[in-house]
Amino acid sequence: METLLNVPQGTFAMQRLPYRNNEKLRAWDAADEYVLQHLFESEALNAESRVLILNDKFGALAIALSQSKLVSLSDSWLSQQATRLNLAANDLSSNQLQLNNALDWPAQTFDCVVIKIPKTLALLEDQLIHLRACITENTKIIAAGMVKAMPANAWKLLEKYIGPTKPSLAKKKARLIFVEVAVQLQDIKSPYPVHYELENTSYRITNHANVFSRDSLDIGTRFLLEHLPVNTPARNIVDLGCGNGVVGLMLAESHDLSRVHFVDESYMAVASAKANFSLAFPERLAEFYIADGLADFKAETVDLIVCNPPFHQQATIGNQIALTMFKQSFHALQKGGQLWVIGNRHLGYHVDLKRLFGHCNEVAANKKFIIWRVEK
Ligand SMILES: C[S@@+](CC[C@H](N)C(=O)[O-])C[C@H]1O[C@@H](n2cnc3c(N)ncnc32)[C@H](O)[C@@H]1O
Repeated sequence: METLLNVPQGTFAMQRLPYRNNEKLRAWDAADEYVLQHLFESEALNAESRVLILNDKFGALAIALSQSKLVSLSDSWLSQQATRLNLAANDLSSNQLQLNNALDWPAQTFDCVVIKIPKTLALLEDQLIHLRACITENTKIIAAGMVKAMPANAWKLLEKYIGPTKPSLAKKKARLIFVEVAVQLQDIKSPYPVHYELENTSYRITNHANVFSRDSLDIGTRFLLEHLPVNTPARNIVDLGCGNGVVGLMLAESHDLSRVHFVDESYMAVASAKANFSLAFPERLAEFYIADGLADFKAETVDLIVCNPPFHQQATIGNQIALTMFKQSFHALQKGGQLWVIGNRHLGYHVDLKRLFGHCNEVAANKKFIIWRVEK
């Protein structure tokens, strides 16, 4: 697989995260190449330029533009970690680069903003509303994405919150959108986070913009909640890929002596889970981790893990992340500890679970989902 990004700014070695043997996908896309080429040809940037990058996937933009003063803002811990690793791999200094999470907006204005259009339009909306405080009428704003991943509503949001747009020609199936800053921008409050009441409880659930199923309970999660283990002797319980943390919340309710650990690689997910747990159980302690699954968990330290795995990484469909989570779970579980997994029927998680744990029990099934249980 090609690992050298060749752009007018230079040639850079690039890796994706999480690492996979025989990686078949590049750590950048044609939209990254297009925007970098445009910035070079238009001579828009110099060493003094203050540049804000939103949603850089693995750091391609930050690395190629590292000669300017950069803030790169993302909701993904893996994206930020990939940026750090790729920067180091190319012997580039991180002095000029500030990595901010998606809830931590810089209090400054920028000369140039590059927006990679995210998959979740709510995240784009939230970002555009915050962005208004970081731009002036002189800020150059370029949104970039692959044509097929650029919904009409992305254009509408750019026009609604920033100003008139002008498209570039498509190139290698990528497009740039040049956004003119409309000077009459007033302050607007973001509608995010949004809230709902968790069914059959009085828990008020807070959901930041990029959280899975932020407007209502997901049907898979609902099925999982109906079949969660209750009153087990588990002391340390993990909600793996916690999103807003409703699974961990209900496990905490039925295990009042246990410690619940909430893990997600999205800053907005962990912030939501933290808000939800503290509101539901103000007197109780829990642990919150922004991380690549259980990568940092010590061996044999956990009694129960419950997981509704992600089945795509941005546009990358596959069981890869789920499989990594199962392997991490095997490592982190004590002997006799259990992993509970929910998945769409067609994902066939039981094959991997059986290979790793030697068996796999079906806890419950409906037309769409199966819940599996394995024990170490
Ligand atoms: C299908 S959602 C489940 C959310 C929540 N548990 C629920 O059932 O409503 C999967 C979650 O896994 C998270 N995730 C994806 N990759 C991850 C990784 N490498 N490490 C930790 N969490 C990850 C996503 O951010 C997302 O919140």
